[in-house]
Amino acid sequence: KSVFNFLTSTKSFSKMLSPLESAKQAAAFKAVDKHVQNNYVIGIGSGSTIVYAAERLAERVSKEKLNVVCIPTSFQAKQLIVKHDLRLGSLDTHPTVDVCIDGADEVDVNLDLIKGGGACLLQEKIVASCANNLVIIADYTKDSVKLGDQYKKGIPIEVIPMSYVPIQNKIRNRFGGDVNLRMAVAKAGPVITDNGNFILDWVNFKQSDDWNQVNTFIRMIPGVVETGLFIGMARIVYFGQADGTVKEQ
Ligand code: 5RP
Repeated sequence: KSVFNFLTSTKSFSKMLSPLESAKQAAAFKAVDKHVQNNYVIGIGSGSTIVYAAERLAERVSKEKLNVVCIPTSFQAKQLIVKHDLRLGSLDTHPTVDVCIDGADEVDVNLDLIKGGGACLLQEKIVASCANNLVIIADYTKDSVKLGDQYKKGIPIEVIPMSYVPIQNKIRNRFGGDVNLRMAVAKAGPVITDNGNFILDWVNFKQSDDWNQVNTFIRMIPGVVETGLFIGMARIVYFGQADGTVKEQ
């Protein structure tokens, strides 16, 4: 019992993280420490890595008495902001964002990204597009040479529900691969985004040397709301490593 008490009472025990979680935490902490300043408007991304960023941001705000406004990119991000007592803002009141910190599912050597694993890609892209600086935080498994090398769950595409079948056909006919309707856990029904739409996951696609062109084609299909291809948007990426160090790209 005494050993148990000792272990559970030490801070390090309660914060003991797996190598993957340490990597996420290291990337998130570094980004917040380096890119957040007083009086900043900050875009808060979505996913599991951003949880550590919100934690660090709250710590800095409280210790340094920073005055910052946080713009959420999803319902999850909004919850995180509220949970940490950070100041919640919107693009209505703060249309220019100083820095947006967000996760990614895959990052290539050009800093092009696949995002939307958590189905939040639309609001993530809107907030990122308003940011002077998009900073990506990711663990080492997201570090890729070409999009599609690492991430096998596909490129997410948010679509208006009534259009999902024609969109599946148009993407398949033009580029090949499979375009799957994302289903909720236990296949209870399709995943519904924060905006009331469906998500298609385009898998087994041929890798491209011109993702901009692919992105433009898909976005032009009526019913497509947005894609998870973030081309030419990120300025810097922090890849956390299993040993807690961070690779900057
Ligand atoms: C959600 C996203 C996330 O940022 C992306 O899926 C990365 O998530 P995680 O930090 O959990 O790996 O795009 O739509």
